[in-house]
Amino acid sequence: ESPKHNTEEKLQKICALLDQEISYFNWTGFYFKNGDKEELILGPYVGAPTDHTIIPYGKGICGQVAVSNETFVVPDVHVQDNYLSCSIDTKAEIVVPIMKDGQNIGQIDIDSHKVDPFTDEDREMLEWLCDEVAKIM
Ligand code: SME
Repeated sequence: ESPKHNTEEKLQKICALLDQEISYFNWTGFYFKNGDKEELILGPYVGAPTDHTIIPYGKGICGQVAVSNETFVVPDVHVQDNYLSCSIDTKAEIVVPIMKDGQNIGQIDIDSHKVDPFTDEDREMLEWLCDEVAKIM
């Protein structure tokens, strides 16, 4: 079993756990920098399949976090510019960058079917989680 496979499995489990434990997390997934390219590629996720398997840097919430290195909370996606819609059910989104050795290597992306569902605790938990994920990457 290669280390890469093992990591993917862990990330898949993290998605499943978050999806299971937090009722308003309705799509939970990881995106990672696609090699040397200025784009994100979809990694493990739980939720409805998305058309956005590749996202150029700067595009959508995910693409913006790829360049800002900052958590982006969108309480209401309907009033958000530069947003890539995955599902008509999605009302809110949070994207947290995964920083390793000062480099933005990817992110966790969570969509909710509820407007303004994300708490400060969610944000803190996800930022902690992304620090932990960075350690296994
Ligand atoms: N909504 C994201 C695209 C990814 S899907 O939510 C899974 C965005 O605007 O970047």
